[in-house]
Amino acid sequence: MTLKNPVISADHLTVSVPEGPHYFFQPTYKLDILIDVSIAVRPGEIVSIVGESGSGKTTFGRALIGLMRPSGGQISLDGVALPDFSKGSFRKVRREAALLFQDPASSFNPRQRIGAMIAEPRRIAGQGGMRRNDLQDLAATAGLGSSLLSRFPHALSGGQARRAAVARALSVVPRLIIADEPTAGLDVSVQGGVLNLFLDIRDRHDTAFLLITHNLAVARHVSDRIVIMYLGRVLESGPTAEIFRAPRHPYTRALLDSEPVPDPKRRRAEPPVIGEVPSLMNRPSGCEFHQRCRIARDRCRIEAPAETPFADGHTVRCHFPLDTPAGVCAMAAG
Ligand SMILES: Nc1ncnc2c1ncn2[C@@H]1O[C@H](COP(=O)(O)OP(=O)(O)O)[C@@H](O)[C@H]1O
Ligand SMILES: [Mg+2]
Repeated sequence: MTLKNPVISADHLTVSVPEGPHYFFQPTYKLDILIDVSIAVRPGEIVSIVGESGSGKTTFGRALIGLMRPSGGQISLDGVALPDFSKGSFRKVRREAALLFQDPASSFNPRQRIGAMIAEPRRIAGQGGMRRNDLQDLAATAGLGSSLLSRFPHALSGGQARRAAVARALSVVPRLIIADEPTAGLDVSVQGGVLNLFLDIRDRHDTAFLLITHNLAVARHVSDRIVIMYLGRVLESGPTAEIFRAPRHPYTRALLDSEPVPDPKRRRAEPPVIGEVPSLMNRPSGCEFHQRCRIARDRCRIEAPAETPFADGHTVRCHFPLDTPAGVCAMAAG
């Protein structure tokens, strides 16, 4: 099978911001939020970025469409690298990609009715307004009752606002949807509805999805591939089944072990990850995960590991990747 060109890909992307007490006048140092991030999403593929809060997931989504300016690396659209990170270059990306914000309600205009808001991207794209029927169909696709179209944003529940945002993103079906925590704060039943809607859109339009989530269960349910981020770096990436069957990074392994398992016979072999996420302002030496890692050795404290590819489509950034399938230790202890 020949692989299609990625709709979008980031290669060694870096995002840094000036920081310091008076950085507006005199930046004292720069804060690296993303370092050396390479991620590609192909048509019809759902790729999830998973990481604890503060790992840089939102920043990555925003950087891809130019809401945050990258300071290094490359972004490519359909296999062609953007010549630079200018507004003009990102305009091309934004024609193909829609971003579903982490908090959709805050991106709505409070004085615009939901129906007008959903139809707006079509108007902006120069495709004219939408007929009432088409608008109702679109809303229905996103699971939004047509009675809500005449309401204002404040009258919507969290789940309805999320669905309205999805409908808006679909008024001109993009080739890529970047969805930032699309299920956060929703009831489990509503979460399932949103995720199934994504699967449905993917199947019908071959749309690519970059799904940003801190929830491994959500990622497992829908994604073809998973990328594990930590302190702005990719620690591991690979096909979803492989990540769950045989995680190679101790961090991924710890994340999997800390997932609730609906099996009373299975006990946890070890407690979840030790300690807190370090501050970006004080990145640890060597492998940045070493202080929280159970198998760290001297080398890990000194030398930063490079991202290494494996044959099964896996990449891992670790000096001592694991080779025991997940659950084996847990089973043995149970
Ligand atoms: N504009 C900014 N200036 C300074 N720090 C920022 C900025 N944007 C994000 N950060 C920091 O970068 C880190 C990653 O943030 P974010 O991408 O929102 O993570 P996530 O979405 O994974 O929770 C956080 O520590 C956050 O405080
Ligand atoms: Mg976020």
